[in-house]
Amino acid sequence: MRFDPASALKGELTPPPDKSISHRAAIVGAMSDGRVQVRGYLRSADTAATLEAVTELGARLGRVQARGAGTDIELVGAGLRGADPGAERIDVRNAGTLLRILPGWLAGQPRGTWTLDGDESIRRRPVDRVAHPLRRMGASIDFREGGLPPMVVEGADLHGLEYELPVASAQVKSCVLLAGLLADGETTVVERLPSRDHTEIMLRAAGVDVRTNGGRVSVTGMRHIELEQVDVPGDFSSAAFFIAAATLVPGSEVVLRGVGVNPTRTGLLRILERMGADVELAGRTAAGGEAVADVAVRAAALRGTEVEEAEVPLAIDELPLVALLGAFAEGRTVVHGAEDLRRKESDRITMVVEGLRGLGARIEAAPDGFMMEGTGGLLGGALDAAGDHRLAMLGAVAGLASREGVEVRGFQVADVSYPGFAGDLETVAA
Ligand code: S3P
Repeated sequence: MRFDPASALKGELTPPPDKSISHRAAIVGAMSDGRVQVRGYLRSADTAATLEAVTELGARLGRVQARGAGTDIELVGAGLRGADPGAERIDVRNAGTLLRILPGWLAGQPRGTWTLDGDESIRRRPVDRVAHPLRRMGASIDFREGGLPPMVVEGADLHGLEYELPVASAQVKSCVLLAGLLADGETTVVERLPSRDHTEIMLRAAGVDVRTNGGRVSVTGMRHIELEQVDVPGDFSSAAFFIAAATLVPGSEVVLRGVGVNPTRTGLLRILERMGADVELAGRTAAGGEAVADVAVRAAALRGTEVEEAEVPLAIDELPLVALLGAFAEGRTVVHGAEDLRRKESDRITMVVEGLRGLGARIEAAPDGFMMEGTGGLLGGALDAAGDHRLAMLGAVAGLASREGVEVRGFQVADVSYPGFAGDLETVAA
């Protein structure tokens, strides 16, 4: 698919519902007793995989009604200890969050053995990071050599654990906390650096006493949880592509409505502020404990910046965009402490560096990030999405802001998180 240089981006847009929160709503909903209303469950390949997994595991899908880029769904949970042992094989497709969070529920089941597997890209994504703490809680887990899927989880009696995360990962934290609900006694996750806290917020809504103290998050084993309703805000990580596009294309003025602005997700806004971007939040509200706002963006000239390790978990999925923004900035843009980018849907350090270099950027890879020398713009050319939805959308934004346009190979993979992306881009770029 080709993305030609755009004149100013104008207008308003509501980004699709949040992917992280949608995955959690389906999984925590499945663990609940009774009915759960999810307002605005993301309609995408990734979240469809999660809905399919939890229904195979015994949650029942009730009334379903489309609403914008999302769906209002009613789910009847299977209960905390009610996962269906008959499901056996769970196909997570491309969904890393499903792969890493679901085992937290399954590991503590009274009976059942499940095999989690997915597509070619999922088979390169480490699962030992969740298997290790779960095993220490008493779980029975197997995986392929190298710590990779397929992963086999057999239900077992779990006990509480205090676990310090070796990698800053909200997926691992979430997995251990879910297992903690099924364990005897108290489970504590210790984070050196804060990561997204959607699981903690949702568990509180489900009646769990989630205690936080500095970098410590604790839960105690429970008999039942009850999640009644989740209102899914707009996905900041999807909105980020428009925030970047409107910043880069001169004369742009775009308002993004109903965006989730949980501070553990919006590290990009702090980075953009240092770069000199013009982004304002207005109409702040909250939905089920999650902060929501409208984000107004105007084009601006940028300067380079340095992103340190502590900022990485708060902007993890937006770091490819920081590289793109850096290409247009004056001076150097550097990202440190982001080694885990190499283990996302693709090796996002290698692919971003190769991809942007192919469009004319002066960028070098480092083991834990990249260094970019801003040249005031990008020529354009072709970029391979490499089976990674965020690279596909990065290429599209690069095309709009480039001098000659960008051909994105394998663009269709954007459907993993944002099926309507190209159409939405057209509505503001027209
Ligand atoms: C996610 C956490 C992040 C992020 C991913 C979604 C989540 O992964 O990159 O897209 O929903 O918890 P890690 O927890 O592995 O850093």
